[in-house]
Amino acid sequence: MPLFGKGRKNKSRVVERQITGRRFLGKKIWNPKTDWAKHSTELSWIKGTFGKFWRTNSGENFIYSRYHELKRPQLVLDWGCARGVAATELALEGGPRVQVIGYSKDSYSQWTKNDEVTFIQCHQKELGKYLKKFPQIDLIYSHFGLWHLTGGWPTSKLKPDSAEHFKALFSKLSDGGRIVFNGKIFNLTLCKQLAQLLGNSARVEVDRWENVICITKLS
Ligand SMILES: C[S@@+](CC[C@H](N)C(=O)[O-])C[C@H]1O[C@@H](n2cnc3c(N)ncnc32)[C@H](O)[C@@H]1O
Repeated sequence: MPLFGKGRKNKSRVVERQITGRRFLGKKIWNPKTDWAKHSTELSWIKGTFGKFWRTNSGENFIYSRYHELKRPQLVLDWGCARGVAATELALEGGPRVQVIGYSKDSYSQWTKNDEVTFIQCHQKELGKYLKKFPQIDLIYSHFGLWHLTGGWPTSKLKPDSAEHFKALFSKLSDGGRIVFNGKIFNLTLCKQLAQLLGNSARVEVDRWENVICITKLS
């Protein structure tokens, strides 16, 4: 740990693309059309996309309201953070109220210069190991990240390893914590699958456009 930069294992297996600075684990053929690299989405856009799920029922900011209620910094994970633009903005906005982790299977050279966010680059199945040193997570948000695990519309079918990953993320949530993620269009089948997978301790909701899913861990 990290996680990234100093002390990270398997450094030699990372391949960096000169143009974008994107660093892949292992060998990967670069496709400029799909290389999510030049820009990462800003926090204001993500907040807008996640809408009511970024807030409490009474309309307050979910993280800051919990910070005041629980009197401890809120641990937030940006799953599929790319360059870490939104994660950094959140860390700066939240100050002592938040601790932000950015996770992605690809990393970027500028991660090393970033002191605001703890970045993790690893394969999805390794993430649990890296998260062990952190306490429970209060918010996991993912803007077009976790969506990659859902098979996409119209099938929106969780593969067994994706289902396991959702379960693992859910088990890492604190009581009342949330996983919020979006996709192009989900159907209700995915919500039903997630609800079935996670059982009675999860409330799974979708926004009215079926674009954002919010999973809450019930206490
Ligand atoms: C479409 S980009 C979105 C980036 C960023 N959230 C944004 O909105 O600008 C998807 C991100 O998810 C990451 N990602 C996709 N599949 C992943 C997986 N199976 N494990 C870890 N990261 C993954 C990619 O590396 C990339 O950073």
